[in-house]
Amino acid sequence: MTLETITVKPVTPRIGAEIGNVDLSQPLGNRTFQEIHDALMRHQVIFFRDQKMSLEQHKELGRMFGELHIHPGSPGPEGHPEILIIHADEKSKRVAGDLWHSDVSCDEEPPMGSILHIHTVPECGGDTLFASMYAAYEALSEPMKAFLAPLTAIHEGEHVYRGRYSHQGVDDAGKVYPKAEHPVVRTHPVTGRKALYVNSGFTTRIPQLSKLESDAVLRMLYEHCASPLFQCRFRWEKNSVAFWDNRCVQHYAMWDYYPQVRSGYRVTIKGERPV
Ligand code: SIN
Repeated sequence: MTLETITVKPVTPRIGAEIGNVDLSQPLGNRTFQEIHDALMRHQVIFFRDQKMSLEQHKELGRMFGELHIHPGSPGPEGHPEILIIHADEKSKRVAGDLWHSDVSCDEEPPMGSILHIHTVPECGGDTLFASMYAAYEALSEPMKAFLAPLTAIHEGEHVYRGRYSHQGVDDAGKVYPKAEHPVVRTHPVTGRKALYVNSGFTTRIPQLSKLESDAVLRMLYEHCASPLFQCRFRWEKNSVAFWDNRCVQHYAMWDYYPQVRSGYRVTIKGERPV
């Protein structure tokens, strides 16, 4: 489609593009929505600069792309359960997402996409790395693709979320966190492309294999997926926005700026059962 409203500047040939000429705080017209949607499908993660958005405007933007997802562990700011607070400062013991993962892949129907707005940035550092799981899949040998094709994997939230939000006053005693079984290779419902769908954050086991085999195959896949060949790296500025497609992208939030502050909000969009 010829671009009429936005500009799209690829970051690497495989993944990522910077989008210009749009104000995300305002309702997107049909044409702009379609161009942003198409850019996301093509580049898998898209970046915007200088976007001022209230929480309501952020949620409205997310709703244009689908129903909003409620995080299974984090309560969100008062009155906004659909918002995930992303915050680190000198008191932080851990941060969200500082390992390769696809958001909440432990859900039966994991999120389609996430829109992160960062309003406070450290002097330097705090980049987010994104990796194309299309590129990772396509780079596998044919025998490995054939081996992985019938396999599924278990994704669990328990080890990720238990006690995680106690600093926000959450008592999760008795709470059951999501657990799901998904194909190791999924087909994207819009593009039809195949993507690897295991990640070191949530995936615990390939049930068709022995534990030894499962651990070895997952370790190999994680190492493969982490190749810089499949990646782009986003340098945040105040009021930057990143919008990624969790169905074909993993990301890694770099916590190299301690004790400085990095802060923002994420809206997450519901997805479908992976096939
Ligand atoms: C996340 O959504 O996993 C956090 C990403 C980030 O802070 O860059």
